[in-house]
Amino acid sequence: MPRNKKRENNFAEVNPLHGKTIILGVTGGIAAYKACDIASMLRRAGADVHAVLTPNAREFVTQLSLTTITRNPSHCEQFQAQADWRPEHIELAKKADLILVAPATADIIAKMAAGMCDDLLTTMILASSAKIMLAPAMNPKMLDHPATQNNLATLQNHYRYDLIAADYGELACGDFGTGKMASVETIVAAAAACLLEHRTLAGRRVIVTAGGTREPIDPVRFIGNRSSGKMGIAMADAAYARGAEVTLVSTVEVDRAYSVLLVETALEMQETVEAEFDGCDALVMTAAVADFRPLGFSNQKIKKSVKEDFSLELTKNPDILDLLGRVKTDEQFIIGFAAESEELLSNASQKLKRKNLDVIVGNDITVPDIGFGSDDNAVIILSADGSRENLPRMPKRAIAEHLCDIIAARFSTAEKEPASAD
Ligand code: PMT
Repeated sequence: MPRNKKRENNFAEVNPLHGKTIILGVTGGIAAYKACDIASMLRRAGADVHAVLTPNAREFVTQLSLTTITRNPSHCEQFQAQADWRPEHIELAKKADLILVAPATADIIAKMAAGMCDDLLTTMILASSAKIMLAPAMNPKMLDHPATQNNLATLQNHYRYDLIAADYGELACGDFGTGKMASVETIVAAAAACLLEHRTLAGRRVIVTAGGTREPIDPVRFIGNRSSGKMGIAMADAAYARGAEVTLVSTVEVDRAYSVLLVETALEMQETVEAEFDGCDALVMTAAVADFRPLGFSNQKIKKSVKEDFSLELTKNPDILDLLGRVKTDEQFIIGFAAESEELLSNASQKLKRKNLDVIVGNDITVPDIGFGSDDNAVIILSADGSRENLPRMPKRAIAEHLCDIIAARFSTAEKEPASAD
């Protein structure tokens, strides 16, 4: 039976900071001491805060303070011995809902505008697809300098960057002017507003499936596939960050603030998704569901046969998408995925029609380094209205954000459409 990890996430509907992963970037200016208050306020509002300091920031505030306040290890060194092969900070950058740089010095603003990454913080910023907020703090002349103004303009032209304007007042250097970092309350409120504004799926219930099903042969063996669940988890994270009530039906265990329903087999996935489907607004099936399962299950480990050959009789699994595509209402939106090794366009487009989907995301699984198990993918997105988009190689989270935009656009159009006269 599915192991149920259902959680209520109603609180998240009223508090956009609750359950969100926020990277607090701290750079080397006197206002860095206020980062402790920002971290504390964010954490008390329910955010999972991870501080990343530049080496210069440590001249003003200690890592120990930020670690204690955030209750998470804080980071500074870019090159550090680590237990796991996966660089922890890159994983963090991928899962962040928001990167808040406060204070942001002229130096970090220049580096970000130029796409430089010579320390941990700038590297994480480049490696993340999260929204980035900057709270500049510097001497008024430095802020007013054309170089800094050009850099800020470059960043603001990009949809991922938002500025929390500096205040006017007396600065630590004794000068008066605009350059004081905005108040802690203003910064935390701006972070909450940014997450709220981004909540294009607020009030929507979204089901996402992730991972590859395992079809047991005996107590030891199973038929499986190469799906890691990364695409589904990225999709669920993105939908949750947009304010959706998310249920992730997954074969891969993951600890999140939204509901995670663990399943193993295709039949368990079918049972769980069907139980959740009624009343949901969107279903995104990224899971690689086994088309066949062994006809019988051997309670004992199958012994090595004296015969050279061994055959396993298989039977077809139900096609979950196909079944739900038949019963979905006009208000429900279904996105399927198609893993293809040939004829990507025509196979994906046939699946779109045959399974009565709104959108299908096709990926060519023969391309090395992307797709199964990778952090990246390159996909083609086909819609039932005939539109077609090619997304070049990009992080799975960025693909997920794109799919969230598609779902949100569909619901905003549906809301704007006038009710029919009859
Ligand atoms: O998990 P990752 O390592 O991140 O890899 C991501 C991915 C490669 C698994 C993902 O991008 C992907 O392509 N997922 C779909 C894989 C697949 O099973 O494709 P398919 O063409 O066999 O199935 C088409 C659609 O029908 C899929 O949405 C699938 O979930 C669904 N299906 C398939 C069989 C079945 N019995 N029931 C289903 O609902």
